[in-house]
This record gives sequence, C-alpha cells and structure tokens, in this order.
Amino acid sequence: MLTEEEIASVVKGDIIGREVIYLPSAASTNDSAFEIGRNRTDPEGIVVVADMQTKGRGRLGRSWISPPGVNLYFSVLLNPPFPPEEASILTLAVPVAVASAIITHTGLPAQIKWPNDIIIHGKKAGGVLIEMKAGKTAVRLLAVGIGINVNMSPGVLPSEIRRYSTSLTTEKGESINRIALLGEILAALEHTYKNLLHDNKRALINEWLRLNCTIGNRVSVRNQDRIISGIADGITERGELIVRRVTGETETVRAGDVTILKDN
Ligand code: BTN
Repeated sequence: MLTEEEIASVVKGDIIGREVIYLPSAASTNDSAFEIGRNRTDPEGIVVVADMQTKGRGRLGRSWISPPGVNLYFSVLLNPPFPPEEASILTLAVPVAVASAIITHTGLPAQIKWPNDIIIHGKKAGGVLIEMKAGKTAVRLLAVGIGINVNMSPGVLPSEIRRYSTSLTTEKGESINRIALLGEILAALEHTYKNLLHDNKRALINEWLRLNCTIGNRVSVRNQDRIISGIADGITERGELIVRRVTGETETVRAGDVTILKDN
C-alpha cells in the first residue's frame, strides 16, 4: 500500500506536488482531481494519486485497467498561462517527462509513440490522458492523468491488449519501487513544465524527437473513421503529427492511434 506521508517524502517540486492527495481507491484520478480543484482558488500543481481505479479511462473512450497494489495512477492539475491551442504542447511535454524519468529510475529504454504512449521494447507500459475543464467562471484547468504498469503481471490484462502491453517489472526482471518512480516523474514534470513556462519549446521538441519511436516510420493513423497512411514525417509545436502520403502531400493529424508498419 502507498501512504500519503511516503508519497509526500519523495515530492520536492515547488509547483507540481505542492499538495499531494492519496486515495486508496478512485473512479478515475482525473475526475477526483477536477472535483478537488473546483473548490480551490489555486489548484495548480495538486497531485492526486490512487492505489486503484474502478473506472480508469484511456484515450479514445477506452478503459484503463487499474488493479490495486501494483501500478501508478495519478493526475496533476495544471492551469497553464497559455491559450488552449498552445496548451496542446503538453501532449509532447508530459510523455517526455515520463519516459525520461523511467529511463533514469530503471535504466529501461522507454520511448514515446505518438501521441502519448510509453513504449518499452515495442510494447505499451504506460499512457497519458490530458483532459480540460473550462467553466464559464472557473479558471481553465487541465488534469494530466498518467498511468504506468509498474509491477503488474500483463497476464491480468484481457487477451486482446496483452499482446501489445507490458510492465516495467516484466521488462526489468525485478520489482520497481512505485513511490520512488512517482517522485522521479513528478520532478521531471516540474522541470519540463518550467521550461515551457519559459517558452523553451524547441528544447522540448528536440527531447521528444530523441525519445520517440514514431517519426521516420511508415505508419497508419486511425482518426475516428479515417485512416491516414504514409511516413511519419515530423511533429508540430502543437503536438500534431505530420504524415507524408505516397503522393507527397502532407497531412497534419491532431488525434488518433498510430500503427507502426514493420515492413519499412
Ligand atoms: C492511454 O494510453 O489511453 C491513456 C491512459 C491514461 C491512464 C491514466 S491512469 C490515471 C488517470 N486516470 C484515468 O482515468 N486515466 C489516467
């Protein structure tokens, strides 16, 4: 089990983790974070961590399997001073922080698959779900939700996703200290977020390019009912993927699911 004191002891940031709330169980930490943030005048940096989730969500309406005692599920509230269209750079920034922290903490070669899957040895070990609430009077608030398969055996996952999924312990062959890893990720997030506040987007994009496993590959991107195929050619400052079709035309994709085609 995690405890609030243990978690607080590894969180050193002066923005992210100014306050840490631990819940033994949450429906979704993104919902809990919004709920908590609604009643605060300055919610930026509040971190909500749960040991398990009963309605964990993934991107594109999927569920996120969230058993107790093994993984990390947490959300960070942010109130960035830039407009919503620029806030989409966080879809690049957050996975950079998560992948860097995993590399530092475990030595595993974590990579990013666009937009925000955390991949180790070709399989998914974590994901990021960023949601926004913009009330009429309330400040614009983002919940940055992060889920990492830490000590879970992929055997507990439904068979259709097991083939594509892994956990840090499976890849490392030993159990991983969840709390120390959480501290590492929050410190990396603080560092990346401060860079963004100082408008250092170029450094961030370079870091994303260094850590990604998407660009340069032949891909097929499923975006609702459309499939866009071509070479993943680059990334925009808004976190969009640039795909070059065989015709030579390029298309900028805001959201979707990437399949990397292996016969490249
Ligand atoms: C994805 O890869 O589809 C994103 C997964 C995000 C899961 C995390 S777990 C903490 C937070 N609460 C949720 O309900 N989802 C995110």
